Amino acid sequence: MTKHVILTGDRPTGKLHIGHYVGSLKNRVALQNTGEYETFIMIADMQALTDNARDPEKIRNSLTQVALDYLAVGIDPSKSTIFVQSQIPALSELTQHYMNLVSVSRLERNPTVKNEIKQKEFGKSVPAGFFTYPVSQAADITAFKADTVPVGDDQEPMLEQTREIVRSFNNIYGKEILVEPEGYFPPKGLGRIPGLDGNAKMSKSLNNAIYLSDDEDTIQKKVMSMYTDPQHIRVEDPGHIEGNTVFTYLDIFDNDKAKVDELKEQYQAGGLGDVKIKRYLNEVLQAKLQPIREKREEYAADMGGVYDILKRGSEKANKVANKTLEEVRDAIGINYFTNK
Ligand code: TRP
Repeated sequence: MTKHVILTGDRPTGKLHIGHYVGSLKNRVALQNTGEYETFIMIADMQALTDNARDPEKIRNSLTQVALDYLAVGIDPSKSTIFVQSQIPALSELTQHYMNLVSVSRLERNPTVKNEIKQKEFGKSVPAGFFTYPVSQAADITAFKADTVPVGDDQEPMLEQTREIVRSFNNIYGKEILVEPEGYFPPKGLGRIPGLDGNAKMSKSLNNAIYLSDDEDTIQKKVMSMYTDPQHIRVEDPGHIEGNTVFTYLDIFDNDKAKVDELKEQYQAGGLGDVKIKRYLNEVLQAKLQPIREKREEYAADMGGVYDILKRGSEKANKVANKTLEEVRDAIGINYFTNK
């Protein structure tokens, strides 16, 4: 049986945080370790540039940060191919071919992109590259014939778009060349972690994130500042656990479910203070993040080695993507000068 193929990635616009970890990194490592997947993990610098063209330095710096975060959480270069999007020219040509199969009005309907356009306050100046990035994402996925894409649930519209492109392409050019991908998402309710301030989204721009690279003190300070239940004023007051960020984090990170249930009961009955539950959460998070941080530091001590991993990964990715591109050119019929 041929192996399943994974292609996934992140835009390098900053360091990765625990939201990325629960949203997709954790799944990627688990899938990688099953041995059932040929795994490609891409640092999507081209996609990051679609709305950062005037600040390439940020993308360049973030590239290595994201690579370190990957290695730190256990993406293993001997099992997974880690590569850099801009080093794979075939992706750009595939994007160009797919662009002809997608209408502007279809792109306008993408809810994730719509949201981002609003958030980023582009007004009438949405970069064309940004507006069309779902098409380039289809190129990323199909170039590797990936059938499995472990991502956060905000990426479902990109997968939908990719499947449509695959179907159009295979229909028009009469060949089963491209593969329809499926998303691979975290279990319901456990894939999205709110920000420290209780905001539904953890993000760098909202300044409410715990980074995989944060040191012990920083983590502790952040945890102690977390949003809980604004009505829980005195320790003896009964507290709410719904919408209480500390308990949401405990649900996601603490493997000791019996203990979490016990704390929840006490909190709701009254008599359990916020400081106490925050201290407990701090212990849970420190235990989880310490080994990640230590591994990150080990890799960071040898940046030459990290660049080597990316270079080797990109060489391998180029071979695979070039092969798909050749098949696509053959199917369209534009390989004019080869004996096919
Ligand atoms: N859009 C993804 C993000 O926002 C990054 C990405 C680019 C990606 N190409 C991809 C994810 C292909 C999965 C598959 O982080």
